Amino acid sequence: MLSEKVQGALNAQCNAEFYSSYLYLSMSAYFHSINLRGFANWMRVQAQEELVHAIKFYDYINSRGGRTALRAVEGPPSEWKSPLAVFEHAYEHERMVSGRINNLVNLALEEHDHAANTFLQWFVNEQVEEEDSANDVVQKLKLVGDGGGLFMLDRELAQRVFTPPAQTTQA
Ligand code: FEO
Repeated sequence: MLSEKVQGALNAQCNAEFYSSYLYLSMSAYFHSINLRGFANWMRVQAQEELVHAIKFYDYINSRGGRTALRAVEGPPSEWKSPLAVFEHAYEHERMVSGRINNLVNLALEEHDHAANTFLQWFVNEQVEEEDSANDVVQKLKLVGDGGGLFMLDRELAQRVFTPPAQTTQA
């Protein structure tokens, strides 16, 4: 059984993951608007991954006999001044999410909820990859600038494919 505190914090993170999905889908729409379809694809895949994260929290709360409370998802920004500004925002966002996950781990340990701690370790590891993949594109954008390299990078980012997890539903 989840404590009230842990349940509340897991619910808040479920909402935050839905916001992340919204944010990345908005970034995808921005890239579409400036005709960088590969960048748009990368962000769309990222938005799909965030939905998987949200559902992981949803399923976990249910599996512990808790109650998921779905709240309104905040509207994300829709304009950025450049592709680099978008990815810098994404990187900054992921660092913020890593901080949230660390705080959740701290709370689980304070509440002696070792099961929640084990569940959260997946996210601890995932955040290393999340920060790295956003920062990788930030660094590449800094290298290529606004020239023809941008179109080569667009072709590279077009290759990203969403791989659905083996199982996202729960009985
Ligand atoms: Fe759900 Fe991008 O972390």
